[in-house]
Amino acid sequence: MARDFTSVGVVGLGTMGAGIVEVFARNGVDVVAVEISEDALERGRAILTGSTDRAVAKGKLAEADRDALLSRVRFAVGLDALHSVDLVVEAVPEHLDLKQRIFAELDRVCKPEAILATNTSSLSVTEISVATSRPNQVIGIHFFNPAPVMKLVEVVRTVVTSADVVADVEALCKRLGKVDVTISDRAGFIANALLFGYLNHAVGMFESHYATREDIDAAMKLGCGLPMGPLALMDLIGLDTAYEILDTMYRRGGRDRRHAPVPLIKQMVTAGLLGRKSGRGFYTYERPGSPVVVPDEQTPVASEAALGGAAAIAKVGVVGSGTMATGIIEVFAKAGYEVVSVTRGAEKSAKVFEAVRTSLNKGVVRGKLGEADRDAALGRINWSATLDHLADVDLVVEAVVEELSVKKALFASLDEICKPGVVLATTTSSLPVIDVAMATQRPADVVGLHFFNPAPVMPLVEIVETIRTSAETTATARAVCAGLGKTGVVCGDRSGFIVNALLFPYLNDAVKMLEASYSTADDIDHAMKLGCGYPMGPFELLDVVGLDVSLAIQRELYLELREPGFAPAPLLEHLVTAGYLGRKSGRGFRDHTRR
Ligand SMILES: NC(=O)c1ccc[n+]([C@@H]2O[C@H](COP(=O)([O-])OP(=O)(O)OC[C@H]3O[C@@H](n4cnc5c(N)ncnc54)[C@H](O)[C@@H]3O)[C@@H](O)[C@H]2O)c1
Repeated sequence: MARDFTSVGVVGLGTMGAGIVEVFARNGVDVVAVEISEDALERGRAILTGSTDRAVAKGKLAEADRDALLSRVRFAVGLDALHSVDLVVEAVPEHLDLKQRIFAELDRVCKPEAILATNTSSLSVTEISVATSRPNQVIGIHFFNPAPVMKLVEVVRTVVTSADVVADVEALCKRLGKVDVTISDRAGFIANALLFGYLNHAVGMFESHYATREDIDAAMKLGCGLPMGPLALMDLIGLDTAYEILDTMYRRGGRDRRHAPVPLIKQMVTAGLLGRKSGRGFYTYERPGSPVVVPDEQTPVASEAALGGAAAIAKVGVVGSGTMATGIIEVFAKAGYEVVSVTRGAEKSAKVFEAVRTSLNKGVVRGKLGEADRDAALGRINWSATLDHLADVDLVVEAVVEELSVKKALFASLDEICKPGVVLATTTSSLPVIDVAMATQRPADVVGLHFFNPAPVMPLVEIVETIRTSAETTATARAVCAGLGKTGVVCGDRSGFIVNALLFPYLNDAVKMLEASYSTADDIDHAMKLGCGYPMGPFELLDVVGLDVSLAIQRELYLELREPGFAPAPLLEHLVTAGYLGRKSGRGFRDHTRR
């Protein structure tokens, strides 16, 4: 029979602790909520009442249930109040010496059979446990932020945690409506080990002015369907907490440079810019603790001013006949631009025409597009097999095969054919845009327009500026994206731009974690979906994207940045060699023939 937890203690009522109190009290468990001082206790109480009041206002919690929930919580200063609880969850700041001190004290205060749990994100549960005389009753219960919302709990067992304690805690997680994954004691466990390299990299992009905070966040939200961008997430986590987690992971996790905290994080912590909880981090908030972002000096100026210098675009050439070209033709035609499609022959043009028509018809069937609009869109497309028909367009979007020699030859031809001042854009996802630009005599007019697949659906376009791209060209690219109803984010000309540079190393890390037998593909997928709100787990996504494509992107990133942590996972290489490419070949990380 699993142990019955009737009363639990929570130590530390900050970002996590207050949420953990709410989780227990919502599920009928009495809670003793402990802080270090009266002031801190009041702050903790305010977080709890703020959160439950919001739940009532949103209709997610009845008033009576809120009152019952709050009546289950007793607030106290000092650990002595925890003498009779069955379980304690500690959620104080991420410092080993502090946690060890608290555990030694809890060991003294709590009854002998009580389980002592830490919510640490990165510290060694084992090292914390040895500060007590009962390391077999010490365990990690790692909740995710915000604790009342996120479904995942990582249960961390050390080599001495007893099996019945693990089983009791797993049963408790179920009672709390959580999904648990049980794992051993390794820096960052599953989710943070995969998340923090990515967050740190994103901060590095911001620090080096590679892209703005809004563009980095928009890219990951719209390009990957994440619930928040990385910088907004850093603000939610708290920059002090994030710094400590990175620092610990760097030291405990093999000194991977990707975990060495980007210097800006420490500077911001020193300056008191801790994120939401202090009212200011990467963004500025209405007041401390508020989720509402308010404009500040970094907020982009109103779009009209930003678009100053943009050229008027009416007629657009699209070169290519593959998936991307087809989608891009549809997007421009639907948005009211006159389109000249150039393919390598009438047969290809007929195929593209069919594909565009079929896609537009789907829109009609789904009631998203009127028949007249469909016909008007198709009527705006002119089909050609020669680049000469691009002599009078205002913008060319190239979407031919991903080979530098082919793209360079094409841009040299466009340079001869197109009128002066035309914007020449490439949709390359991995080649340096500057190489393509330098094949022309007008590199200032060349820009990357990286659409995502499927182009008619995905709301994001990465606008890639080279060191020769003019401000007017970028402004035109921005205006075009706005005209298409897409969000354009501007970034520098580096391998992977924003999205792939942040996404693929994370996917590669997941493969390395699987390879190291730390966890299973199912649990890793669960952890990222339920702990971080990702729409797909890394192995699901790798199978959809294709393992060969993922490996090629990861190789490019590794070759450009020479970052040892970016070296492709050997398991990924082996699967590709074995022909396990993901869904398209029937098997990748999972067998798709039997599903
Ligand atoms: N922030 C996150 O997103 C997140 C997610 C999961 C786990 N964690 C982990 O949870 C723990 C807490 O992090 P946080 O972000 O909530 O920190 P926080 O700074 O928001 O809150 C910590 C709280 O602990 C209190 N405290 C400090 N010393 C204390 C003591 N001796 N006795 C009682 N209370 C004390 C502080 O007053 C503060 O309210 C850390 O181990 C962190 O790694 C954080």
